[in-house]
Amino acid sequence: MGRSGRKAISERLNRLREKWRLDFVVVNGENATGGMGLSASHAKALIDSGVDCITLGDHAFDQRDMLTFCEQEPRIIRPLNFAKTAPGKGFRLIKARNGKKVLVAQALGQVFMKKPFDDPFSALDTALKNAPLGGMADAVIVDFHAEATSEKVAIGHWLDGRASLVVGTHTHIPTADAQILPKGTAHQSDAGMCGDYNSIIGMQKDEPLRRFITGMNKERFTPAVDEATLCGIFVETDNATGLAKNVVQIRNGGRLQQSEPV
Ligand SMILES: [Fe+2]
Repeated sequence: MGRSGRKAISERLNRLREKWRLDFVVVNGENATGGMGLSASHAKALIDSGVDCITLGDHAFDQRDMLTFCEQEPRIIRPLNFAKTAPGKGFRLIKARNGKKVLVAQALGQVFMKKPFDDPFSALDTALKNAPLGGMADAVIVDFHAEATSEKVAIGHWLDGRASLVVGTHTHIPTADAQILPKGTAHQSDAGMCGDYNSIIGMQKDEPLRRFITGMNKERFTPAVDEATLCGIFVETDNATGLAKNVVQIRNGGRLQQSEPV
């Protein structure tokens, strides 16, 4: 989320990769540029900071240069069920630092979203059949970019046993439900944002408050800029099956109470 989130990644990720022995790191970057979309230069900066894959979301193309950059950069994933004419790919097989192949896929939810999107269940089903866990893919990560926790939990159970991790993004607030589902898929309804939590979902508070209280717009939303809490989810997978062995909710730095892998 904005400069605060980008700074946390550029300053902390390399150290955290080493400390937690991370083989593969995915970030959701859809609000990293001024809180609206992701520019090509900020995408490059995230990759240079040690990110292996960037997912987008409903704001995938708010920064116009992402329309062409997502075709050139094979580590960027846009939602599978975005407009049929959208550039880029909704899933890709990407090599981790340890040589393993990781399928990353992203889909948008349908409940309470501003625009109507196609069915994410069938879209993800097709993507995961293309490179199944234990077949083409050593690990499968699904970013489900959605508003409603009910839909996010449903998609987790729908993919249970077929993905290493199904994690929600989009609300910017982490949920306290990280778990391994019965067939071995790690799940958390929302990973939360990497951004300044003295804010209203990452934005400076005055304008969102004004809109809630008066129903009127006065200014643009601008991201809050103090120290970010880097929120996310850590998953350790079984070497043979690619399913989850351990899952830990991450909260690092900034205002939120800390939580990290031991
Ligand atoms: Fe979003």
